[in-house]
Amino acid sequence: MPSFTATAPGKIILFGEHAVVYGEPAIAVPVQVFQARAVVSPEISGSSGDIWIDAPDISLSADLKTLETDHALRAAVNEVVDDTDLDSAPACRIQITSTIPVASGLGSSAAISTALIRALSAFLGKQMTDEQISRAAFNIEKIHHGTPSGIDNSVIAFQQPVYYQKGTPLEFLTINNPFSILIASSGSPGDTRKAVAAVRENWLAEPERYNKIFSEIGSVARQARKLISPGEVQDLGPLMDHNHTLLQELGVSTPKLDHLAQAARNAGALGAKLSGGGLGGHLIAMVNDEPEAIRDILLEEGSDSVVLTTVGNLYSQ
Ligand code: MEV
Repeated sequence: MPSFTATAPGKIILFGEHAVVYGEPAIAVPVQVFQARAVVSPEISGSSGDIWIDAPDISLSADLKTLETDHALRAAVNEVVDDTDLDSAPACRIQITSTIPVASGLGSSAAISTALIRALSAFLGKQMTDEQISRAAFNIEKIHHGTPSGIDNSVIAFQQPVYYQKGTPLEFLTINNPFSILIASSGSPGDTRKAVAAVRENWLAEPERYNKIFSEIGSVARQARKLISPGEVQDLGPLMDHNHTLLQELGVSTPKLDHLAQAARNAGALGAKLSGGGLGGHLIAMVNDEPEAIRDILLEEGSDSVVLTTVGNLYSQ
């Protein structure tokens, strides 16, 4: 039985996070410079059902059975094994590594689930489709984040830019006019679960006010989609700025993210916003001709890492 390897990219949300949990549309793109990777190899000395899991990034090396039943990695394995007609999986070892910063808004949890599910289903001879992988990864996102919208697993499993709205068919976006985005770490971890829960609490306390913000964010995402398809990306910057203001109103930004966003704009970025759950994590800034100068300013102003990516036709690089 051969080994199987699968990778999955990170992601950024260009427009619409948080409101997407409440049924508004959002736009996300995969980011291939960040990758999660899973390798599943046969374990000749083991007995059927023995699964070892090594995830050195989180100092985990364990027999899967010793993990809590709701541990995300154990649950991801079960998603795959339950989908087959096997009573148990042949003895194997699963190695997980990732270059996607954790708790960063860059889709680390969905990418790890996706890579694991893809590699294990191939190893078991039951290669799942992107659609099946996305659905299984969504179930694991519920363990991580409570009430996920489904956008992270969708953009990562299909590895394409998506226009995502709960309850409507997933739409893939063709980006005719590639554009550059800087992804800057704010230096403190984000907390998507906490951010999503806090927004929910605020929404329950003041539904009218929050519904208004959600619908305004949805309208930003709709306008962005109209610009992206024909390649009129020069007008996306102001929409990003507006989206950031609305995320501030939701209470998920931080002074550091606000500071970096302003620094990027002052340095010539076309627009900037936090990306993902917030409360830390990453800022994205749309840039044109001077990405290096803006990157240097972001580093000077306190970001501890800045990566340049191109949002292009099939996927971002
Ligand atoms: C997380 O990447 C995006 C959020 O909108 C949560 C979700 O959609 O599940 C904050």
